[in-house]
Amino acid sequence: MVHLMTKNYLVYVNGEFVSSQEASVSVFDHGLLYGDGIFEGIRVYEGVVFQLEAHLNRLYLDAKAIHLSIPLSKDALEEAVLETLRQNKLVNAYIRLVVTRGKGDLGLDPRKCPHPTVIIITMPVDSLHGAEAKERGLHAIIATTRRQSVDSASHELKSLNYLNSILGKLEANMRGADDAIMLDSRGFVSEATGTTLFAVRNGQLHTPPLHASILDGITRRFIISIARDLGYTVTEGDLTVFQLRNADEIFFCGTLGEIVPVVSVDGQPVGLGKPGPVTLRLMEEYTQRVKNPQFGTPIKEGANPTPLTM
Ligand SMILES: Cc1ncc(COP(=O)(O)O)c(C=O)c1O
Repeated sequence: MVHLMTKNYLVYVNGEFVSSQEASVSVFDHGLLYGDGIFEGIRVYEGVVFQLEAHLNRLYLDAKAIHLSIPLSKDALEEAVLETLRQNKLVNAYIRLVVTRGKGDLGLDPRKCPHPTVIIITMPVDSLHGAEAKERGLHAIIATTRRQSVDSASHELKSLNYLNSILGKLEANMRGADDAIMLDSRGFVSEATGTTLFAVRNGQLHTPPLHASILDGITRRFIISIARDLGYTVTEGDLTVFQLRNADEIFFCGTLGEIVPVVSVDGQPVGLGKPGPVTLRLMEEYTQRVKNPQFGTPIKEGANPTPLTM
């Protein structure tokens, strides 16, 4: 795999297209100083930006929750995203859309930051856990670090402060696992460090509810509807560690990682210790549907149909 950062791309920074080697923000930007900002990770499949409306809607809801006024209308921001893809001639890509509080002083006060910083980075896709993870499955641990509760800056809000997830990821690294499953403050299963999760028991799907400190994942919602279309029962409800450990199948899901099977938890096999049939069926269906223009926004004119080689 080519190191993505070695290639030069154009990055949108506050209305300008700047080379990725030179794109930068002020050291006084509160996104850097305090993690004061929000972001979205979005995928483009064959010239269609998958679930762009849903991602923009979530970004604007997050902005409202932290009293951040995004200096572009939703339509203008959508066009900026599409134009960034066109400028880079990308039709299969990952988009990172970031809005920070902007440049201020060294104090916390957001009133000192009159101009939010808007950044759009687009790049060829680098898979989250490595390309082979989907086939072999992931080894997970249950982290001792708890997901921040819903009454604090939890992952209900996709903010620039990911230290809670990073602490979980560090535990996974230290224990030689691929990723960590985090529990909420009550001890119920929440989500993984950067993905939501599903457990399959007796052919039915279970996924933790929004009040279990999870992000209201766009992939999670999409999978719930795919699963129901395929005739599976899906329950959104509290999941105990006992139920998780005794699941027949577990998978993580998110925009970047899509659907990735989990084959062990804390060293114990999940089911038969290999990707299970329900997970594989959903992965197959997901791969088909993400390319369907019905579920996304076409880049339209100016897009070059030749993907950049990785
Ligand atoms: C903490 C966390 N949970 C879940 C997800 C998956 O969300 P989505 O499906 O909207 O990409 C993400 C994605 O970035 C995340 O950071």
